[in-house]
Amino acid sequence: MTNASPPDPAPVLDLLEAFRRSQAMFAALDLGVFDRLADGPAALSDLARDLGADAGALGRLLDACVALRLLTRDGPHYANAPAADAYLTARSPLRLTGYARYSGAVLWQLWAHLGDAVREGTHRWKQAFGLEGPIFDHFFRTDADRREFLMGMHGLGQISSPAVAAAFDLGRFRRLADLGGATGHLAVAACRRYPALRAVVFDLPGVLPLARELVAASGVGDRVEVVAGDFFTDPLPPADLFALGRILHDWAEDKVRRLLRAVYERLPAGGALLVAEKLLDDGRAGPSLALFQSLNMLVCTEGRERTFGEYEARLREVGFGRVEKRQTGAPLDAILAVKE
Ligand SMILES: C[S@@+](CC[C@H](N)C(=O)[O-])C[C@H]1O[C@@H](n2cnc3c(N)ncnc32)[C@H](O)[C@@H]1O
Repeated sequence: MTNASPPDPAPVLDLLEAFRRSQAMFAALDLGVFDRLADGPAALSDLARDLGADAGALGRLLDACVALRLLTRDGPHYANAPAADAYLTARSPLRLTGYARYSGAVLWQLWAHLGDAVREGTHRWKQAFGLEGPIFDHFFRTDADRREFLMGMHGLGQISSPAVAAAFDLGRFRRLADLGGATGHLAVAACRRYPALRAVVFDLPGVLPLARELVAASGVGDRVEVVAGDFFTDPLPPADLFALGRILHDWAEDKVRRLLRAVYERLPAGGALLVAEKLLDDGRAGPSLALFQSLNMLVCTEGRERTFGEYEARLREVGFGRVEKRQTGAPLDAILAVKE
């Protein structure tokens, strides 16, 4: 026995509680707390009645949400804090509700098997949901699941895409093809920034109705086309600028190479590929967002997060000459690779 004082238990104590914080937010969202409060403050008794919840239990949840800075409380009245109003209400154009619901309903169950994923090095769709087959079939089991997943991507994309579109001067390009462009937020952000640019959002057929809806409402819909296609099997649309936003991290090395080769071959000389991903530091010490996203990719895809050096090596291998990165400060960083 030594007399040295024991190490600070704070990291362990914090992590014992961390999942409780996430679940409190997921449950409050699921119960409809933030939407109910979107029009103004309400008393606990009214909230319990309207949300069909036990008043005592709901009070505990709401107080926990106050501690999480999602709600505020003035006597018996609760109100949305600004972050909840902006990101957790259905009517907000900035909403992250899709991704939050997807995290609570789907990712949570995949993460429950993280140990097995690490043991076997594979995703957990079969173990958690009994599902086999290509991963994007699982993301999109029903129309509602698809919409939820895509709105999640959209919310996160709206935070990053303006920064990604501004990371490099893209003014010389005339036609952008955003492969796996989902709801079109990157194409829209790029067209807003570069008035001479036209764009095509290229994604699987099930994605198109929502993409069309959101692109039409974007104010640049006359310059953004939405087309169906499979980037592994179909010819890629003509473009002098391709984009891959949060696509490469979904796939294993062989598919990354295949996709990059197809893009390189389709580009004219002087054309370029814009990659939007969260980059791991060279030493893999961070950033934390990328380290945990890499574990997330383990439980739900074939892919992983990578360093700039790893992306650069893949890009040069297929022929790209100049490859540059920009750390944007937004949730996604940007790489521009030019075909010389
Ligand atoms: C992780 S999401 C990223 C979406 C979007 N780029 C973003 O940053 O929000 C992956 C996207 O790739 C699309 N996708 C997956 N496999 C595809 C394929 N084989 N061909 C075309 N799109 C595909 C999915 O439908 C989905 O929209």
